[in-house]
Formats: sequence, structure tokens, C-alpha cells
Amino acid sequence: MTSTTTGPGNRDQGPGGGAWFDRWATQYDSERRLLISPFDAYYGAAAEAASIVPGNPKQRRQHGVGEGGAIRVLDLGAGTGLLTAALVEALPGAHLTLLDEAEGMLAQARDRLAARTDGALEVIVGDLLTDLPDGPFDVIASALAIHHLDPADQARTYAAARERLAPGGVFVNAEQLHAPGPQWLEDHYKERELVHARAGGFTPEAEEQAWLRWSVDQHVDLETQLRWLHEAGFGLVDCVFKSWRFAVVAGWT
Ligand SMILES: C[S@@+](CC[C@H](N)C(=O)[O-])C[C@H]1O[C@@H](n2cnc3c(N)ncnc32)[C@H](O)[C@@H]1O
Repeated sequence: MTSTTTGPGNRDQGPGGGAWFDRWATQYDSERRLLISPFDAYYGAAAEAASIVPGNPKQRRQHGVGEGGAIRVLDLGAGTGLLTAALVEALPGAHLTLLDEAEGMLAQARDRLAARTDGALEVIVGDLLTDLPDGPFDVIASALAIHHLDPADQARTYAAARERLAPGGVFVNAEQLHAPGPQWLEDHYKERELVHARAGGFTPEAEEQAWLRWSVDQHVDLETQLRWLHEAGFGLVDCVFKSWRFAVVAGWT
């Protein structure tokens, strides 16, 4: 099954509105490896954390917790489906629900996933704050999306994810962090991103657009991320990957 619903919180322009990311939908994928130096390890770690069985990590999740049906996966801010594709590889047959406010980004996700998923695919055009489906889910995952909310709403989203997980479920967030402590370390995080992107051929025009996107990012440091997960009620919390700004945090119920 493939379906699209439009939630009441869908906005259509400006920072945080659907049109904000839709303006980059067609070139989005081509820039990702330039902007994320540890691309494969980063998405791979998120998929691994999503797929291991709590208590028995040599095994991969084969079916949903409790009911024994398909694994139910929710991707928050799914965009063009880059994280979803990694999840599909790790969790074949999963029932996928993608939520994003940018229809153009989701259209790319549909194209990407059409040939790859053998499970159900549900697409929700909606807002992370107001349109989260009730669940329950076995896996709630997100990449590079939650930092678009203000910090209080990021923490609320962690709590909302916890509420929607089945027992034995996991929340995984592949996020961009703010450096802890003094400004020089944050400056270094940014400088090494620029060096990597320019070495790969990032043009000045593309960089200008990237600065526009970065202008609305609300990164927080790792310590805060882990505290939010604890406060949301996750029993086990970890940072399973980190390379400077790029980190994957996970919370198990
Ligand atoms: C940088 S992209 C990441 C997309 C994808 N997860 C990936 O790993 O490439 C951020 C996505 O979050 C979505 N987003 C940002 N704020 C949102 C909100 N409040 N509600 C729904 N989606 C949001 C954007 O539309 C965009 O598609």
C-alpha cells in the first residue's frame, strides 16, 4: 500500500514550511555526500541501531514486537528517503510510514523506495509537531530533521516518539550537533565541513544555498541530546556513532 495524507499542520512557505525544503528537492541528493563526510557510516549506524534486537544484538528484528506482524517503522522528516532506504535494507518487509512537510522531497522518496520496499509504504505530508501518527511503532527514526525545530520542541518530539513506541522499540536520531564548550570547537566543526565539501567540488552557488539552509538550523550538543532521551523515559540511551558534528543517538524503551 502507498498512501499520502495531508495533516492539518502542513505549512506551505518560509523557514520550517514545506516550500522551504522543496526548493532544494531536486538537487538535494546530489549534494549529500559533499555535506556529510561520514555519509555511509552515519546512515549505516542509524540502520544498525534500528535493526538489532534488544538483548540479542547478533540478531536483526524480523517482525514487529508483540503482535508478530511486520516491523512498523516511522521516519520523521523523511525528506527524499535517504535514511528510509538504509532502514529498508536493514529491515526488509517493514511497514514504512514517512512524515515530512515538504511534498517535493517526499515525491523523491516515493521514487527511491518504489523499487526497494516489499512492505507497505505510507506517506504523510505533515508537521513533526502536530501530525505524528499514533503508532505504535517498533522503530522511530529520523535523520537531519529534528534540529529544524526549536530546542523545546526537539525535546517534545523525543517524548512524543517515546510515547509511540511499542515495548522493545527503539528511537534513532541521526543528527547534527552543536559542539560543546567554546566557540573555537564549533568553528572547527563548520570549517571541516566546508573543506570536505569544497574538495569534492561544492560550487560557491551551492555553498550560498547551503548557508541559507544552515541559517535556520538549531543544533544542540550531545550531552543535551542524551539528557532529552533520558527525560523522555528511554531506559537505555547511547550515542552509537559520532564524527564531529554528525552523531547518531538512540533510545531503547
Ligand atoms: C535535511 S532534510 C533530511 C531528510 C532526510 N531525513 C535525510 O536524511 O536526507 C530535513 C527534512 O526535514 C523536514 N522538516 C523540517 N522541519 C519539519 C517539520 N516541522 N515537520 C515536518 N518535516 C520537517 C524538511 O521538510 C526536510 O525534508
